[in-house]
Amino acid sequence: MKEKQLDLLRRPRRLRASSQIRSLVAETKLDIADLVCPLFVHEKEGKEEIGSMPGIFRYSLENLLEECSLLREKGINAVALFPYVPREKKDESGSYALDPGGIIPQAVEVLKKTIPDLLVITDVALDPYTLHGHDGIWNEKIKDVDNDATVEVLVKMAVMLAQKGADFVAPSDMMDGRVGAIRKALDSEGLSKTSILAYSAKFASAFYGPFRDAVGSGRQKGIYLDKKTYQLNPANSREACLEALLDEKEGADILMVKPAGPYLDIIFQIRQKTLLPLAAYQVSGEYASIVAAGLKGWIDPKKAALESLMAIKRAGADIILTYFAQSLARDPFFNF
Ligand code: PBG
Repeated sequence: MKEKQLDLLRRPRRLRASSQIRSLVAETKLDIADLVCPLFVHEKEGKEEIGSMPGIFRYSLENLLEECSLLREKGINAVALFPYVPREKKDESGSYALDPGGIIPQAVEVLKKTIPDLLVITDVALDPYTLHGHDGIWNEKIKDVDNDATVEVLVKMAVMLAQKGADFVAPSDMMDGRVGAIRKALDSEGLSKTSILAYSAKFASAFYGPFRDAVGSGRQKGIYLDKKTYQLNPANSREACLEALLDEKEGADILMVKPAGPYLDIIFQIRQKTLLPLAAYQVSGEYASIVAAGLKGWIDPKKAALESLMAIKRAGADIILTYFAQSLARDPFFNF
């Protein structure tokens, strides 16, 4: 025995000695097939970079098709679509959300016709379409979003999007009872094949800032839009589980936690409580934080991106919505 050598039976570092052994014993693996790519669509020509999300664009329908063909070729299974709605098309009740000729219904139709094997997820909420930026119908008397009036509109929106061919409708509004109401309406309209991806545990988060720029639902006169009467309190985990279990009971096919990185404990807990597939949404502010620190030269953004996604998967997410999906699909550096 060498001098000074510790008498250790267990030396965990043996299994970290080479990239081969590390790969062999890796407990969690990221796969491009698990990633869902959120994409923004606008009614203009060409594409436009989003100021607070470097590397992420709003696409015209034509650009969207090009981008989606490439993503599909690279192994992406699903995209989630969000609109940029010009101010003149917004109103108090978000009526443009129900227009079957709107930008999202058009996008769904053309995508399903051209790339039928790419799954299309459409958001069901009113915030891109309302002047006030809330996810539902604002009631001035109660100074709050009216739950039941909103559910009524969301049901119509979901049915319209499903009729256009969306594979998933994804209610992101956090109204009570919307999943059940949407499931019932879809089934009675002969749309039983359309799935529901429920934003089950969606927290009132400051990490949505860049997204609100992206869809133009942003700040009202510099005031940060407060959605605390419907989105979850970041302090609460039991309530998040309760919401997830309610959505399961109401007929959701996939449950989702959002944001992802700051809520790994929620992902972990819900994973223990349901047998449904679980998704997590790495939101715009999580993306922007990593990219911005990378642009400053303070962190390696590619490594940080992979690490953040690995953590989300390790916590128990089967599916990850991430703005890194486009770079991951393209860049050979990101070798899973
Ligand atoms: C709203 C909605 C939001 C996001 C997706 N759908 C923002 C909000 O609740 O204000 C955020 C996504 C992101 O930040 O990337 N229906």
